[in-house]
Amino acid sequence: LAEYEELAKSVLDKPAYDYYRSGANDELTLSENLQAYKRIQLYPRVLVDVEKRDLTTTIFGQELSMPIMIAPTAFHKMACPLGEIATAQAAEANETLMVLSSLSTTSPEEVAASTKGPLWFQLYIYKDRNLTKNVVERVEELGYKALCITVDAPLLGRRERDVRNRFSLPDGLRIATVGDYLEKSMAENSRNSSLNVYFASLLDQSVTWKDIEWIRSISKLPIIVKGIHRPDDAIKAIEHGIDGIVVSNHGARQLDTVPATIDLLPSISNAVNGKLEIFLDGGIRRGTDVIKAIALGARAVLIGRPILWGLAVDGGNGASAVLRLIKDETDLAMALCGISKISEANKDLIGYKNA
Ligand code: FNR
Ligand code: LAC
Repeated sequence: LAEYEELAKSVLDKPAYDYYRSGANDELTLSENLQAYKRIQLYPRVLVDVEKRDLTTTIFGQELSMPIMIAPTAFHKMACPLGEIATAQAAEANETLMVLSSLSTTSPEEVAASTKGPLWFQLYIYKDRNLTKNVVERVEELGYKALCITVDAPLLGRRERDVRNRFSLPDGLRIATVGDYLEKSMAENSRNSSLNVYFASLLDQSVTWKDIEWIRSISKLPIIVKGIHRPDDAIKAIEHGIDGIVVSNHGARQLDTVPATIDLLPSISNAVNGKLEIFLDGGIRRGTDVIKAIALGARAVLIGRPILWGLAVDGGNGASAVLRLIKDETDLAMALCGISKISEANKDLIGYKNA
């Protein structure tokens, strides 16, 4: 997958590439998310029948061909003309699920119309609660299967390249979910990234668990809270009747110096003890990374940037190729680990280098 980034870099405009790749501040967490997997070693079992291998998983009743889903990322039309529609088609072709970002350049209506595959919607809570409610009702009506509420971004992290580039959406693209709002709020001659200005002005910094309860009260969909770092917050999610959490640091784009997500997973998994579904994202680049995350307690993982690189290189086919590649790697890693079902991956397989 790493090679897709190199290819994508050569075809994307610099501000777009910088926006996609960046982490916050010194990008310490950005490198941690990758390094942490290198510290974890696998201890395979041998002489196990692995002739038939099963990567399928079931999430809230939905069967997927693999425990790998597409994380919500903004602005797919910066990567390719079909944008989020190309991504949805790649998800469908690989029988997995796409989480559509609140900051998509294609409307939830158009994305839903373009695919028969399952979709989740990633929600940001706006200061304007009528707008928030409108979005929730629209996506439920459209058949989105779950709401994934991102809770690690009361304000947008500082990505220094975006500030320097004065990042803004290229002409002709808009935030299709709530387009009119963007136009009103993007400060033309801001010395910041326009996206930071957008976040600070429209999103609600006062959101608490009470607001999650409010969303629960206005929607029948399963609710997943994305951006959990701590066992005590995972327990609060259980107490509030949440269906799932994503152990995520937003691809290292929010608070710099937080740990790699894979290092947070064991204690969170321990605390949750099966009472809700756990997903994980951040730095998943190899099939062995997928095995490690499942072994340490995730039901499934999500990938962010590699999908964007695939879109930039070859639209929906590129995103599809990325998914196939990581699926094939996961399948091979399973065989070599001596497991024939993905659900058999457990802590027995895991060791820590220099531990
Ligand atoms: C993101 N992410 C993100 N998350 C979210 O909830 N809503 C969003 O709109 C976005 N937008 C976004 C844009 C870009 C360019 C990136 C790279 C990431 C975070 C995303 O869902 C996920 O947590 C990370 O991308 C996972 O890390 P990897 O796979 O990129 O390392
Ligand atoms: C980002 C926002 C849009 O990470 O979630 O850029």
